[in-house]
Amino acid sequence: MNVMDALNSRFTCRTFKPEPVDRNTIYTVLEGALRAPSWANTQPWEIFVASGSALQRLREAYLGNFSKNVPVNPDISRPQEWPPALKERTQELGRKRFNALGIDRNDEQGRRALTELNFKFFGAPTVIFLCMDRTLTAWSMFDLGLLAQSIMLAAAQYGLGTATAVQMAAYPDLIRAELGVPPELAIVIGIALGYIDYEHPQNKFRSPRRPISEVVRFIDL
Ligand SMILES: Cc1cc2nc3c(=O)[nH]c(=O)nc-3n(C[C@H](O)[C@H](O)[C@H](O)COP(=O)(O)O)c2cc1C
Repeated sequence: MNVMDALNSRFTCRTFKPEPVDRNTIYTVLEGALRAPSWANTQPWEIFVASGSALQRLREAYLGNFSKNVPVNPDISRPQEWPPALKERTQELGRKRFNALGIDRNDEQGRRALTELNFKFFGAPTVIFLCMDRTLTAWSMFDLGLLAQSIMLAAAQYGLGTATAVQMAAYPDLIRAELGVPPELAIVIGIALGYIDYEHPQNKFRSPRRPISEVVRFIDL
């Protein structure tokens, strides 16, 4: 698979097959992704890979919190307010996903079931948690973004799907207790990794993009 194919085929996989991913493959994906650039080669990332019984215990703890409506408490706070155009895009995504899955906007249970997918880590056999020291700035967050996309593209080459989701880092205390993440590290985001269940309607949906003519300004005069 070349880079353009990986860019064009990647999507957020929200239903995985349960079969585990071979440790050597995960290793190869991460080793390649760790070639990502970073500010002055600071390589601010710390990575915790959860699978097997550890991930299963974490999943059960997450689902327990979700079923009891325990408020989420991420290390990195969510934006309070999106600028209007961005807010509209989040709403458009929601509308299109609900439509594609045949979920009515007033169907509270259906919507909750979709949210719950995050808290069961989309059924993935592996979740990669990206962390960085709490004192770092937005520039290191930029570096973590480069790493995340590198992981997703490398995974695509090995026939693996990914879902990058802030909700998987919603209960950092549970992650710390299960994976031993030290307190000085902020748990930024999780990347679910595994084999894609292509038959599932969740995975037939593709999110829209703004047209390039709206986003890019070529100025040459
Ligand atoms: C920083 C970040 C946070 C995200 N958090 C979530 C999340 O909590 N739950 C989820 O289902 N998807 C999450 N996503 C996936 C986005 O919704 C998805 O990337 C976007 O809708 C574009 O769709 P695509 O990835 O399928 O191309 C997140 C993506 C990023 C980059």
